[in-house]
Amino acid sequence: MSGILMFFRILKTELSDMKRWIPVNEEPKALIFICHGYAMECSITMNSTAIRLVKAGYAVYGIDYEGHGKSSGLQGYISTFDNVVDDCSNFFTDICEKKENKRKMRYLLGESMGGAVLLLVHRKKPDYWDGAVLVAPMCKVADDMKPHPFVISILRKLNKLIPTWRIVPVQDVIDAAFKRPEIRAQIRANPYCYKGRPRLNTANELLNTSLELEQRLHEVTLPFIVLHGGDDKVTDKAVSQQLYDAAASSDKSFKLYPGMWHGLLYGETPENIEIVFSDIVGWLDQRTESGNSRLERELKHKNDEILISKDL
Ligand SMILES: *[C@@H]1O[C@H](CO)[C@@H](O)[C@H](O)[C@H]1NC(C)=O
Ligand SMILES: *[C@@H]1O[C@H](CO)[C@@H](O)[C@H](O)[C@H]1NC(C)=O
Repeated sequence: MSGILMFFRILKTELSDMKRWIPVNEEPKALIFICHGYAMECSITMNSTAIRLVKAGYAVYGIDYEGHGKSSGLQGYISTFDNVVDDCSNFFTDICEKKENKRKMRYLLGESMGGAVLLLVHRKKPDYWDGAVLVAPMCKVADDMKPHPFVISILRKLNKLIPTWRIVPVQDVIDAAFKRPEIRAQIRANPYCYKGRPRLNTANELLNTSLELEQRLHEVTLPFIVLHGGDDKVTDKAVSQQLYDAAASSDKSFKLYPGMWHGLLYGETPENIEIVFSDIVGWLDQRTESGNSRLERELKHKNDEILISKDL
């Protein structure tokens, strides 16, 4: 078994699908890195989000996780969440370190499970990122979406034997997440979205990661805005409130949208999507335009340190 898993891992590293959307004839204002949701992918599902952000002047980058979208690996299978986080962190950091990008502000945007990925990317390098947009983040799976605790304990035992098995009994996530039927149909027709039942090990990784995140919300230090639909049935809005309350960040905002569902970025009515993006772009623009460029801030910070050491 581990031989097979190793094989997927090696293949995957070579074949992760990376995607970028760049404004034409215009220097991007800042960089935004997208972390997509469970069973989703960048090119088709996140396309409308990326295009909206590019129209607002940002350069947008994304990567399909292992077992997701156009990346290789068994579809719907996550061997360890650490791999996903490492792949994102490495890819995003490489882009930031390019000469033409060094001065630009760096933002992370994560939806649902991507919110958990985002928080773990932040935890790896707490001071590296300038801000985060968390859209219905999975810091805890809603109780209604979870199998019964007894079932979970059996599944955990089975997982040691057959981690790739697609058996975890949960409610249909697509129906629960997206308000508009035509969007559900689009996602069902997207060959790059995984539609089977959650695989045992993937479910276990999601559950463990979210349980652990919930315990460590106070370690979040970067500026962020967290957005959640009032009628979200997939991730728990109370935990977004908890994130807002517990995070150590001095710049934090929480936006709750009564009547909206889980899929805020593309699953809502057109009017609601406009509201959500006007909040996201407004938040980003405010920080990008008022802030100095990264490099200027770093130099300023350096001078602060020199002054302090002189005083001593
Ligand atoms: C992304 O959206 C643009 C603009 O709507 C469209 O032209 C393009 O075909 C889309 N790409 C994919 C892969 O869906
Ligand atoms: C997930 O949680 C279960 C139960 O707490 C534990 O036995 C298991 O080792 C954990 N797995 C990982 C990958 O952390």
